[in-house]
Amino acid sequence: MTKTESFQLEFEQHVQDGLTAFPKFLSSKYIYDDRGDQLFQQIMALPEYYLTNAEYNIIDQYKGELKSLFENQNGFDLIELGAGDGKKTKVLLEELVQNNVDFTYKPIDISQHAIDELTNSLTTLLPDLDVQGEQGTYFKVLEKIATYNKRPKVIIVLGSNIGNLSHKEAIDFLNQIQHSMSSEDLLFMGFDQKKNPLTIQNAYADKTGVTQEFNRNLLHRLNKEMNADFDVNSFEHWEAYDPESGTAKSYLLATQECDVHIKKLDLKIHFNKWETIHTEISQKYDDLIVEWLANESGLEINQIFEDNNKLFKDYLFKKK
Ligand code: AVI
Repeated sequence: MTKTESFQLEFEQHVQDGLTAFPKFLSSKYIYDDRGDQLFQQIMALPEYYLTNAEYNIIDQYKGELKSLFENQNGFDLIELGAGDGKKTKVLLEELVQNNVDFTYKPIDISQHAIDELTNSLTTLLPDLDVQGEQGTYFKVLEKIATYNKRPKVIIVLGSNIGNLSHKEAIDFLNQIQHSMSSEDLLFMGFDQKKNPLTIQNAYADKTGVTQEFNRNLLHRLNKEMNADFDVNSFEHWEAYDPESGTAKSYLLATQECDVHIKKLDLKIHFNKWETIHTEISQKYDDLIVEWLANESGLEINQIFEDNNKLFKDYLFKKK
């Protein structure tokens, strides 16, 4: 079975499980087809979505220090999980290349399209950079990373991607990274911080409706790939941030009672008016939670970097 076929089977099983559960759910990881990727790019350019600029500010401000922390006399591999368009990473890559640091950049992304675009743009921007991109899911690629033990590695995960995982899943993820690391390796990871709840609410319920389209893309995918007949516009995006738990939750909300037929799965689903499909969590953190997650995963925090507006932090971890 090819990678694409097994991903599709997993997706179909997930839809079957999620839409027959009570309450209904679908995972945000299935938002990202080409259209989903493009919509996420648009989200990252929204002024309300402060995360991108905040982390850009951290990397730009501390790139010299990061260069000194990362460089190694034997050279190193810079492995980026969930590389996307690499906008923030490019600032760091430029710094490393300009200072003749010996390293290979290994961007990893679930989207082959993202890897190809990034590799092409880097060929023009930094022709001397050694880029070895790879397509795959984090978990599959992490197993492989464990075998990259010839040179020290720095693993980077930007954008608070970890926030789309529950704490339990985040610990599994960090644990897997930790197992792939040796004692001299580093992990540099972004964690969006708890802050004024309104700032968070506005970032995930933007007025332009791009986030709504992003969330609805799940239903577009079901229509396209599983021959479903969702009336997509009758599902609205709903965002609820709970400042106690630090969890922002996204839903698709049925604004009218309806029946949907997912022909490929031979599945009929009923929605009551105002029934929800829970689609995403975007967890917000503070130092205590990150310390707890690290501790549970055999990691320790080595250094913390914060942006000028105190919205976002990148943490540098080592193996405990
Ligand atoms: C990819 N991930 C970190 C984004 C987030 O902030 O949770 C996805 C997103 N969802 C809505 N807006 C952006």
